[in-house]
Amino acid sequence: KVLQPTTIIIFGATGDLAKRKLFPAFYNLYIDGRMPKGFNIIALGRADNSDEYFKNYIRENLNSFSRKKVTSEDWAGFQAHITYFQHQLDEESSYKNLNQKLESFDKVYGTRGNRLFYLSIGPNFVATISNHIKNALLASDPKKDRIIIEKPFGHDKQSAIELNSLLADAFEEEQIYRIDHYLGKETVQNILAFRFGNAIFEPLWDRKHIESVQITVAEEVGVETRGSFYEQTGALRDMVQNHLLQILCMVAMEPPASLESGEIRDRKVDVLKSIRRIPAEKVDHYAVRGQYGKGTVNGEKAKGYRQEEGIAPDSNTETFAAVKFYLDNERWQDVPFYVRTGKKMKEKHSYITIQFKPLPHSTFSESSQHLSANRLIINIQPLMDIRLQFMAKKPGLSLVLKPVEMIFDNFACQEDTPEAYETLLLDALLGDLTLFMRSDQVEEAWDVVKTIQEAWANEKDSSFPNYEAGSWGPEESTALVERQGHHWV
Ligand code: BG6
Repeated sequence: KVLQPTTIIIFGATGDLAKRKLFPAFYNLYIDGRMPKGFNIIALGRADNSDEYFKNYIRENLNSFSRKKVTSEDWAGFQAHITYFQHQLDEESSYKNLNQKLESFDKVYGTRGNRLFYLSIGPNFVATISNHIKNALLASDPKKDRIIIEKPFGHDKQSAIELNSLLADAFEEEQIYRIDHYLGKETVQNILAFRFGNAIFEPLWDRKHIESVQITVAEEVGVETRGSFYEQTGALRDMVQNHLLQILCMVAMEPPASLESGEIRDRKVDVLKSIRRIPAEKVDHYAVRGQYGKGTVNGEKAKGYRQEEGIAPDSNTETFAAVKFYLDNERWQDVPFYVRTGKKMKEKHSYITIQFKPLPHSTFSESSQHLSANRLIINIQPLMDIRLQFMAKKPGLSLVLKPVEMIFDNFACQEDTPEAYETLLLDALLGDLTLFMRSDQVEEAWDVVKTIQEAWANEKDSSFPNYEAGSWGPEESTALVERQGHHWV
């Protein structure tokens, strides 16, 4: 696929995501020579900012958030592609003005036919903007115009269906890029390479050899300035429905026939469909929720969730969720997939553990030591490596075994790893949908968490707060895995 001259229109360009992720990603792609030859970024915001003011603001933030150093020379080149444009999201006239602006750019830069709209705004505005874009004929070429939409994509299955149908009025499915930035992470993409680029692992990748799978996304951060958003969201919607289920799909999917985007997305939907739905009355058995109280994170005192800004003093929102899923299919029947995520946890660590079954019979005597079953750990962040744990002989005169690790370290191969947003924005510029969510994927993922969501919404958890900031979550999460003789690794 070839990069075509493109105009990128960012709704919400003065917001947090734009300054932390989007502009740094575009800047880094630019430095790497990965932006199209002709490109413009039209930054839309409500305020009457001058171009100069906006560019200074972006420049200052690049210093903090760009992966690559910002030099005067590179900045001078990059900033020439940015234009700030005052815009009111809900006013028709604003879209007419925008259209005129786009057309005038098209004439100068030859960018017509390639428009990339980035909706970096709250979910409540998606419908309004998409309607206006449609009415003002801003994205009228389905082959070339695209729209990127941030999560959360709806707040439950029904709202996602409605949103999808609204978007379908304005865009073809091939124009819609629903982003889940975890899929752009280097180590998450590496799961595909690891599984399907090697002949030796895939034959072991099933219920005959694997005892359980764990996916952990632990964060040290709390809700920071996003209190009011998070209060309405919680860990299940914010992380499990999207990031964790997407990682689960990468681990569990059947080998795709090719890397064609439809093919990979189909295989992922198959996984989501096969996840056994948790009956409403059994939610407590399969899912655990938590909310942090005060504690210490990384040596620093931390407030409890209910004391954070914008949070109700009796909030029922979960900041931790752990769920045991089963997949009803030939490959994974009876293998538990444990997923957990939480804020203000002991450490920032996202990783996948593939726990292999123990040996059916030990050749070695009891005295040779306890044999640990093999384990594969895929570290997503901040470590980015793959570790295979196995038994080896301890050097010495007697035959004693000890567990050892074989490690592939991503950093050692390439220190300068692209950010998830760079990968995803480049894919969107190239028109590659593989790493983006299709409408049915999003709806199925909501369906998977539906009963948990309903149970938790309808019932206040009187045990909240039930884990200390700086811990690994509530005790019930340990019990969830121990019930089956497993442990969080
Ligand atoms: C976002 C969530 O999607 O992912 C945040 O809304 C979360 O609550 C973030 O902190 C985690 O992303 P990362 O890349 O820092 O692991």
